[in-house]
Amino acid sequence: MRKTIVAGNWKMNGTREANRELLSQLVAGVDVAQGVEVLVCPPAVYLDQATSLVKDTAIKVGAQNVSDQPKGAFTGEIALPMLQDLGCEYVLLGHSERRTLFAESDAQVADKFAAALDADIVPVLCVGETLEQREASQTLPVVAAQVAAVIDRVGISAMAQTVIAYEPVWAIGTGLTATPQQAQEVHAAIRAQLKKLDADVADSVSILYGGSMNAGNAAELLSEQDIDGGLVGGASLKAEDFLTICGAAAARLK
Ligand code: 13P
Repeated sequence: MRKTIVAGNWKMNGTREANRELLSQLVAGVDVAQGVEVLVCPPAVYLDQATSLVKDTAIKVGAQNVSDQPKGAFTGEIALPMLQDLGCEYVLLGHSERRTLFAESDAQVADKFAAALDADIVPVLCVGETLEQREASQTLPVVAAQVAAVIDRVGISAMAQTVIAYEPVWAIGTGLTATPQQAQEVHAAIRAQLKKLDADVADSVSILYGGSMNAGNAAELLSEQDIDGGLVGGASLKAEDFLTICGAAAARLK
């Protein structure tokens, strides 16, 4: 059965001091007994600090990006063995900011996804449509193609226990959120795409929603059948808001 996951994507934010404060509040506030997998994804330079601060707690750490190469002459890149070395368990891949600002292609994302699986780091595949694509009724085919690019590369059975995050590009950092119905429609379509290939795998993949999720709208989004958690940007930098979202996710498990 799939996990309920709340992940905080800190993006390019944080200082050692602010991270210490935020993580100490999260460590104190996350209720392990609720059964939600809580994940923070700090900038790469703070991964070491974050894994140390959450050691022996229920909070997991993920990276925001990684190279598909294991080592060598790739100035500025970070390798999967380095994430393993630090105790990172997850990595975000194909975030829309990586796709649009850094021109990451479906093929590169798929290579990274395959490399993460080989390294036993759980890949979180981010997918989503732009506003233009939504307005042109292209949401479902665009998302399906992003998911298919990865399945074609790794095969359906390798998707078991991985994570997909549906993040409509127009909802990221804009304060605009997909309605629960809009999000559920896309989540259900992703699940159906997986199910056509393997029903057990489809049931084991957690599909998270991201895009202006906050303490006020999380409960409604997370009450939808195929929304297994959240990938939270801005609201993950405020302990109280992030913990409220974790609490809303816990309600799914009751
Ligand atoms: P916001 O929650 O700030 O809209 O960001 C969402 C996101 O991109 C998470 O990966």
